[in-house]
Parts: sequence; structure tokens; C-alpha cells
Amino acid sequence: MMIVKTIGEIRDLVKGWRDEGFSVGFVPTMGALHEGHKSLMERAMAENDRVITSIFVNPTQFGPDEDFEAYPRDLAKDGALCDQVGVHAVFAPDAQELYLSDKCTTVHISGLTDVLCGSKRPGHFDGVCLVVSKFFNIIGPDKAYFGQKDAQQVAVMKRLVRDMNFEVEIISCPIVREEDGLAISSRNVYLSEEERKAAQVLNRSLKMAKSVLEQGERNAPILKAAILSCIIQEPMAKIDYVEVVDKENLESINGEIKNNVLIPIAVYIGKTRLIDNITFEV
Ligand code: PAF
Repeated sequence: MMIVKTIGEIRDLVKGWRDEGFSVGFVPTMGALHEGHKSLMERAMAENDRVITSIFVNPTQFGPDEDFEAYPRDLAKDGALCDQVGVHAVFAPDAQELYLSDKCTTVHISGLTDVLCGSKRPGHFDGVCLVVSKFFNIIGPDKAYFGQKDAQQVAVMKRLVRDMNFEVEIISCPIVREEDGLAISSRNVYLSEEERKAAQVLNRSLKMAKSVLEQGERNAPILKAAILSCIIQEPMAKIDYVEVVDKENLESINGEIKNNVLIPIAVYIGKTRLIDNITFEV
């Protein structure tokens, strides 16, 4: 497996593959790789002739008070996992390689990014859209793989591709969970043992909501209230948001659920902000 640091080298590599007629899959990550990322890479390996994983802690998607500096970085460990899965190349550029100091282009998707995590993390999705647009332009993959845990990111990526005519298919992959149900995330390492137990409330509340939906409940405010009352029973949990939204356009549903629905939640356990979600086909 190759670790590639420059735009020129990765372009040459992909060009060589294209000349041989290979399809190319792409798994963008910020490193701190875990089972969730592994599942994305395995799926990409199964569906493409060649696979590139990017490892880049993207400064433009972190707010000034967020954990950019503290974000876990271990290229040797991450590279070993990529190697084990068998991906063909890791693209791990330095920030200076990707961003010129006088860069002045932004990529903003309105509407979809103004709600949920977007409203709590101003500029976050602009940074994600910018870096992913650059990766799509540099690599030109056939398929790109994202985890459904970041459901808003998946919706935003689909809109980015549609609106910018990128020739790439966005593949959303199922949430991978720990044995206790906690959605796997790079930020789980911040949780103490006690917080880790408390964090199970996210999955517990969503499982309850799913069974209520399965029993036929279609009233969004009733569902939302049931989730909120489940979460507030956990003293360590501080709710950031609980929403019931349309799965495609992320618009809030305030009455009866008529279309496929996404229920995303964001909850602080101690200082760590965790997200999770379920979808339900109507
Ligand atoms: O989901 C992530 O890890 C990041 O937002 C992404 C897509 C790699 C862009 O930096």
C-alpha cells in the first residue's frame, strides 16, 4: 500500500489506474480510524478495482472552539488498518499541500446546512464541502463512501454532487455500533468509563422511537417528546437537539410523518458531543 502526500503523485497514480481501465473508490476520513471506517473501506474494496482512503484532519471544518488541535492523529496506526483492509493507497496531504495561504474559494450549500449540526457548528459544512470538492477534483473517484452516522453529511454530499455535477456516486453505509449499542465514533475515546455507560442513552432512545414507529405511530411531536423524555432520565446527558426530519431535504416534520423520515439526535455526555440517528421508511 502506498502513502501519498502530494496532489501531483495521487493524480499520476489515478491516471495510471484509469489507463488500465480500473474503477476507483474513495473513502474520505480524518484518520483515528475505527470499525466504522473499516466497514466503509471493505465496502469500497468489494465494489471497486482500486481504493484510495484519504487521511486529513481538515482545519476548515472545525470552529475556533472545537477540537482541531486535540483531534487524535496517528498515521502509522491508521496506515496499518488501511493496509490490513487492502486499500491500494492512502492520500495524506499536509494542510499546506491542500490549502494555499491566500485561498479565497468557499463552497456553501444553503438550507440543508443551516439546520441540525449545521446550525450548531457554523461553517462546519462549508469546510466539509470545500475539502470533499477538492478531493473529488483531484482524485475523480467513481464512488465515494460515507457513514450514515453523519446523516446530515450524507444528505449534504448528495446535494453537492447533484448541484456541482461531480461524476461520483455517494454511497451511504450503515452505522456500526459497539456491543453496547453506542455508535462508533472517533470521539468516543474522549469518554470516561462512567460517561461511556451514560452514552448508551442515545441508542436506547432511538431504539424506543423505532419500535414506536413500527407500532404505527406517525405523529412527529409525540415521537420527539418520547425521545426527549427518555434522554432526560440520564443525568449526565445534555440534549443539543432531537429532531424528526424528512430524510432527503432535512426539513422539520411538525405533524404527521408521510415520507421517509430521519430522526437525528445530538447529545453532550460530559464535554463530548455525540450524534446518532435512525431512519424509517414510510
Ligand atoms: O466525515 C469525516 O470524517 C469528514 O467530515 C470528511 C468527510 C473526511 C471531510 O473532512
